[in-house]
Amino acid sequence: MEMIFATHNQHKTEEARHILGGILQVRNLIEIGCPEIPETADTLKGNAILKAQYVYDNYRCDCFADDTGLEVEALDGRPGVMSARYAGEGCSFEDNMRKLLGEMQGVENRKACFKTVIALILDGELHCFEGRVDGVITSGEKGDAGFGYDPIFLPDGHDKTFAEMDAATKNRISHRGRAMEKLMAFLKEYRGR
Ligand code: IMP
Repeated sequence: MEMIFATHNQHKTEEARHILGGILQVRNLIEIGCPEIPETADTLKGNAILKAQYVYDNYRCDCFADDTGLEVEALDGRPGVMSARYAGEGCSFEDNMRKLLGEMQGVENRKACFKTVIALILDGELHCFEGRVDGVITSGEKGDAGFGYDPIFLPDGHDKTFAEMDAATKNRISHRGRAMEKLMAFLKEYRGR
């Protein structure tokens, strides 16, 4: 089985290959020459569906897409769907973390979660999977592995931020890892029908 992953992100592609490699061949948008797909929906699920649908409409093949957001309880779920550009268009991961830490200064409730939604279009039918990891926002940055908000996210039950963990440990418990595992379980069952 071959499937297009609607991303230009090489890191995510490798992560997907690591999890799904045993049962399918994953190709990304760079490899098929597809341009960036604008994320214009106002929910994670909406964006994941929009990207998968774009690939399906243009290439007529099995495909999946993901969208991720960090939701902070004390900020009414922000940055959420705006996670990539929280500090403005073209901002860096550092800018986003600084803005978030500023808003969280003196805030006692530090609960947050990462959510990933994966939209799969298989034989023309849409299926969605969600992965989630709960944790807290730290008071400062710790660690330099990973990307995004990793240095300020401490997952529940662990004493290291995502940025202090090795990739294998993070992938095992992360939002994206969990959503990918659900996708994998679904595909295995689907294939065996
Ligand atoms: P995307 O939908 O995977 O592109 O994620 C949107 C944004 O969420 C990214 O630009 C990051 O800021 C943040 N993000 C996504 N996944 C992670 C993660 O695993 N760790 C930290 N931040 C993440």
